Amino acid sequence: MRRPISAAVLAAAGLVGNAHGQCQEVVPGQYTGTPFQNNLTSTHELSEITFFKIKDPSGQHLCTADAAGDLSLLAYQSLNTTLGRPVNTDIKRAIIVIHGALDDPWNYHSAMIQALQMVTNDDISPDTVAITAPYFPNDGDAGGGFPYDPSGTTPAEKYPSPALAWYFDNWSGGAHNQYPPNTKTVSSFDVLDQIVQWYGNKAMFPNINQIIIAGHSMGGQMAQRYAAIGKTGAQLGITTPVSYWIGDPNSFVWFATDRPESTGKCAAFDNYREGFTNYSAYGTPQSTAMTYNSALVAAGRDAILANFQSRTIAYARATLDKGDYNKDNSCSFYTTGADRNERFFEFIKRFPTTCPDPAGACKTVDIVVAKHDAPSLFQAPSGLTRLFYDNWDGSGNRAFDFGYPRHAPYDDPYPDPSQAGQPLVDEDNSTYAGGKTFRGCFTDVDKAQSVPSLPISAYVGTLNSKTYCSSLCTQQGYSIAGVSYENCYCGNALGSQTSMVVVTSCEGSCPAGPSTAFCGGPSRLSIFSSIDL
Ligand SMILES: *[C@@H]1O[C@H](CO)[C@@H](O)[C@H](O)[C@H]1NC(C)=O
Ligand SMILES: *[C@@H]1O[C@H](CO)[C@@H](O)[C@H](O)[C@H]1NC(C)=O
Ligand SMILES: *[C@@H]1O[C@H](CO)[C@@H](O)[C@H](O)[C@H]1NC(C)=O
Ligand SMILES: *[C@@H]1O[C@H](CO)[C@@H](O)[C@H](O)[C@H]1NC(C)=O
Ligand SMILES: *[C@@H]1O[C@H](CO)[C@@H](O)[C@H](O)[C@H]1NC(C)=O
Repeated sequence: MRRPISAAVLAAAGLVGNAHGQCQEVVPGQYTGTPFQNNLTSTHELSEITFFKIKDPSGQHLCTADAAGDLSLLAYQSLNTTLGRPVNTDIKRAIIVIHGALDDPWNYHSAMIQALQMVTNDDISPDTVAITAPYFPNDGDAGGGFPYDPSGTTPAEKYPSPALAWYFDNWSGGAHNQYPPNTKTVSSFDVLDQIVQWYGNKAMFPNINQIIIAGHSMGGQMAQRYAAIGKTGAQLGITTPVSYWIGDPNSFVWFATDRPESTGKCAAFDNYREGFTNYSAYGTPQSTAMTYNSALVAAGRDAILANFQSRTIAYARATLDKGDYNKDNSCSFYTTGADRNERFFEFIKRFPTTCPDPAGACKTVDIVVAKHDAPSLFQAPSGLTRLFYDNWDGSGNRAFDFGYPRHAPYDDPYPDPSQAGQPLVDEDNSTYAGGKTFRGCFTDVDKAQSVPSLPISAYVGTLNSKTYCSSLCTQQGYSIAGVSYENCYCGNALGSQTSMVVVTSCEGSCPAGPSTAFCGGPSRLSIFSSIDL
């Protein structure tokens, strides 16, 4: 554990308020940011707290005599195996790992260093991989993560330091900062740009082959949105390849105005950060209007999608993560699925993942048996491969997708030839009464849908099974049967708002057999039909 830096130590070192007004030009940089008081600690011996100097991209607040002209980002930085700062010319890879909604970069930093220490190739070590975990704090972190003076009367007195902070989790969409209160012009994506530019500087880091933006959960949301509207290497003036590792985000920014599920219950379903309507309003009024890469956003969704699809992206999907994070009681992400599992598969179904060039704009999808837990994903064989081995030497080598059987016919962008021909998970190839066969897992009334998927509730009880319900619906003259736990529904057509979702949403059990498995799920029906749907 590292001790927090006290104000007295900072003052003695001349670090409080120094440099303000003296600079000719603000040069962004790791280790050169102005330290500010905080009570954060490191939870790994190879993790230190540092400060990254950030330049105000609007150019309005440079070199002024107060905190507004000297922006500072707290960032955890990895040490090398002899507890020194890694030697620039030894570094071959930089990983920027983004924390989740708990604003706890120390945990993500520690988990990523532990993953690195699990790698068995001696060339890949804390001497050759730099891991940075930037801190995107909010008001709830004031007084702990950055200075706060409750006795102040003006915002500038209350938030007297150069520490950058954002409104709640709006950093995950690239909102402008909320503090320091006189400089509300720094998008969290500008911060990522400046860190990427730092590591992409070939004069300083001639041997870095790969920069990875890695995020899980809320950090995964940020990584996905940054991949969507982030600037290209050419725009940033760098040639080092940048790739994205996206683990278990709660939602994805959507590149079209349609949605796979009903939007009837959600008027503002397309507002940014879930869609692109009202992009500039994002983060206001707590900060100024969003301007980050607004030229791309103005160019339209096809242009944004093309930008996104030009990236190298490794998706990590934990099979046991069927959670949902909805602190704001927002409705928009229910229009893309009921939970993280559905949203992921709906997203890659609508915006197909492909690997046209394994050394270039390749997407990989790794399916991992894990819960909603970043360390499990970083430290799984697939995590170690994506984060450390893929393109280690700069030759563009990349491993095939991990995790079979697959969950959907469209989820294997870079298939492993040794696994070819495996059936999909949860495949049911039986024929039931009336010639009914399994057609997939479908939505029913939920937070997005109001119209029932099948009109007749034929049975509720302990005898329910796929066999029982298919027979019952057949006897009653219906061609479609739908089961969900003890419920059996029948009909001759699916409701107007019904859509097919990934089959793993129907892994509930029926009360009766012969096979009790794959019998619907919460607001989800396993559908058996004798007619095409
Ligand atoms: C660790 O970093 C220090 C300071 O940069 C350097 O002197 C030392 O050689 C490095 N150790 C290794 C094993 O690279
Ligand atoms: C850090 O400060 C915050 C806010 O004052 C407080 O809630 C938290 O308990 C402190 N943590 C430690 C480790 O001192
Ligand atoms: C920004 O943060 C606030 C507070 O959590 C939240 O209500 C709002 O939905 C966020 N904006 C978006 C679009 O996520
Ligand atoms: C867009 O933002 C404006 C201003 O906040 C708001 O009045 C309007 O309703 C928003 N549009 C939608 C579709 O939510
Ligand atoms: C039906 O599925 C099972 C399990 O996936 C498989 O072992 C079997 O070969 C399949 N039968 C046919 C006829 O496809």
